Amino acid sequence: MNAVEIKDLYKSYENGKIKALNGVNLTVKDGEFVSIIGPSGSGKSTLLNMLGALDVPDSGSIEVAGQNLNNSKKLNEFRAEKIGFIFQLHNLIPNISVVENIEIPMYTQKLSSKEMRKKALKLLDDVGLKEKAKILPNKLSGGERQRVAIARALANDPSIILADEPTGSLDSKTSSKILRQLIELHESKKVTLIIVTHDMDVAKLANRVIEVLDGEIISAGDDSLINSKIDV
Ligand SMILES: Nc1ncnc2c1ncn2[C@@H]1O[C@H](COP(=O)(O)OP(=O)(O)OP(=O)(O)O)[C@@H](O)[C@H]1O
Ligand SMILES: [Mg+2]
Repeated sequence: MNAVEIKDLYKSYENGKIKALNGVNLTVKDGEFVSIIGPSGSGKSTLLNMLGALDVPDSGSIEVAGQNLNNSKKLNEFRAEKIGFIFQLHNLIPNISVVENIEIPMYTQKLSSKEMRKKALKLLDDVGLKEKAKILPNKLSGGERQRVAIARALANDPSIILADEPTGSLDSKTSSKILRQLIELHESKKVTLIIVTHDMDVAKLANRVIEVLDGEIISAGDDSLINSKIDV
């Protein structure tokens, strides 16, 4: 099965004045690790938001983890069950503790509060922050917050992780630590990993580098574009 299948996806803003996605076609296989690169404003976040059903396209079809997102009425469920999000501005909830932040995605699972806590602490331990469980997020460094965001993204055992500049604001040491953790996960649990980055060194770690320019995929890191051109 494919993790992602996008066909002829268009998305514009401001009544069509801004064409953010301009006919995107993309397939990502189950368990693949791909990176998405491209200049600022080229449509990377828009594409990622579509994959996570955070925004709806103007036209085109989009299927993620076997679910057609066009006519699904269960997008909340889809997100809760299948997707792990890591945003650049790791949007942790400020007035609850680190461990409680990680428990949020678990509420859709049938776990007791004791089980949730156990699982959250294990996830925190995996990112090296078990001792920070009880404190508020604003007491953490940027890198530590990002690691909490990773732990939270994994709390629902997602089949796909969508990460928008997960290392954007971090120093190189913290950044490579976070990447190692994501890659470890991808390798051990066969999670599909899709990372948006402007850092070519980060992008090259992926199985495939997808290049976006002006709302179009100009290189998919394989021969899919060549084939699609032969087809027509
Ligand atoms: N909610 C919105 N309303 C209006 N325009 C938007 C909106 N979101 C994005 N855009 C525009 O759509 C285009 C694509 O934006 P997008 O955020 O996808 O770019 P990006 O590749 O992620 O850029 P960056 O590298 O700076 O994060 C840009 O021209 C942007 O200004
Ligand atoms: Mg962006």
